[in-house]
Amino acid sequence: MAAKSRAGGAAADAGAGAAAPLRYQTGFGNHFATEALAGALPLGRNSPQRCPYGLYAEQYSGSAFTAPRHANRRSWLYRIRPAAVHGRFTPLAAGRLVSRFDSVAPSPNQLRWDPLPLPRAATDFVAGLATAAGNGSPDQGTGCAIHWYVANRSMEKRFFCDADGELLIVPQLGALRFATELGVLEAGPQEIVVIPRGLRFRVELLERAARGYVCENYGAPLRLPDLGPIGSNGLANPRDFETPLAWYEDREGEFELIEKFAGQLWSAPIGHSPLDVVAWHGNHAPYKYDLRRFNTIGSVSYDHPDPSIFLVLQSQSDTPGVDAIDFVIFPPRWLAMEDTFRPPWFHRNVASEFMGLIAGVYDAKAEGFVPGGSSLHNSMSGHGPDAATFARASRADTSRPVHVTDTMAFMFETRAVIRPTRFALAARELQRDYQRVWQDLPKNFTPGERSAGARRARAAGRARAATGGRRRA
Ligand SMILES: [Fe+2]
Repeated sequence: MAAKSRAGGAAADAGAGAAAPLRYQTGFGNHFATEALAGALPLGRNSPQRCPYGLYAEQYSGSAFTAPRHANRRSWLYRIRPAAVHGRFTPLAAGRLVSRFDSVAPSPNQLRWDPLPLPRAATDFVAGLATAAGNGSPDQGTGCAIHWYVANRSMEKRFFCDADGELLIVPQLGALRFATELGVLEAGPQEIVVIPRGLRFRVELLERAARGYVCENYGAPLRLPDLGPIGSNGLANPRDFETPLAWYEDREGEFELIEKFAGQLWSAPIGHSPLDVVAWHGNHAPYKYDLRRFNTIGSVSYDHPDPSIFLVLQSQSDTPGVDAIDFVIFPPRWLAMEDTFRPPWFHRNVASEFMGLIAGVYDAKAEGFVPGGSSLHNSMSGHGPDAATFARASRADTSRPVHVTDTMAFMFETRAVIRPTRFALAARELQRDYQRVWQDLPKNFTPGERSAGARRARAAGRARAATGGRRRA
């Protein structure tokens, strides 16, 4: 088996195992041009009669050809062999992956899960995917699937490709290396990676084990939200998004190409690595983002703003202002609002919310929601702070700012109801007593005493502290 790899720029020959830090191109949705061999990119045209170095030209599109310019996405790839060169696809058992969400009737109950355990048997990223919930349909290009992943080994001699949707990957445990057709990215907890629909890639573990979340977006590609009155800066800033340089491997051997297509996994033999793109240009490419660079904006007077202030990326629907998917984070931040209940308030939303915790503690839940865990609050399901958090926040001193430091939670919020899978509802990790977190909320209502609520909340807080306080959610 021949094996050779090269990266673009000054980091040439940075193949697997290379210690040099990866270099990236910066900017969200930019039109990039990158080559791992000098002169591999044709000049002045996309498809010359003969490409440099005997490469094949191939267009890879992420939008309709006629999409308006600001939404048009495509890249031109110059590769050793075209993507068409592989054996016949045959169906592969989908394991715990699900793309049809109409077989389980969703309930209005609030749901919460502990983290999935790390696997004991050898499990790579693809084998370790388990669908928690979803909505819509990959056939129709609407909705999403929400997966958990656990892994304890790198993908070896096999590659993955998701024709159904773009993959937003949120590591919670363990750093990963994504070797893709368009270059190599590395990301650990508190970073995200977005792999465009249809891109072929391999996931390698940089640590002993890995766990995290994936939003498989069947709809419009994720984009940065408009900022409105915030202005021209803020939230996730475009320059902080990083896209890899061209990189390729010239490897021949017996490999497997796994493709997810129309909700089904397929397997085809392939006699070479499909990661053989020597140069490319365009704006349709994978990228990573460090969530710690998010410019968090909040109230400096009173009240907790709507959580749309924490929006990182959105997949727009056909209705202006109504997103199909919002990716929202709750990062470390100062809370400065005076005379305000500072944690997220009680609410019922028209949208449906799937939350995960990457690190630390979420400020609306004193316990029971741990890193790697998840919760699902569907449309119009009431939720909010648990009893312990309510008692604490109701008596907190709001004359001074508080720095919330040890936290990084996120939410996949969708327009359509999020339907949990049979696997998720039967999982041992489902907390079957989750509703108890709200059952201890006392009745504070006293018509004859206007300040009774605050007084009783203080008393409840003292009582909780005296008895050791916390109970499992
Ligand atoms: Fe919520």
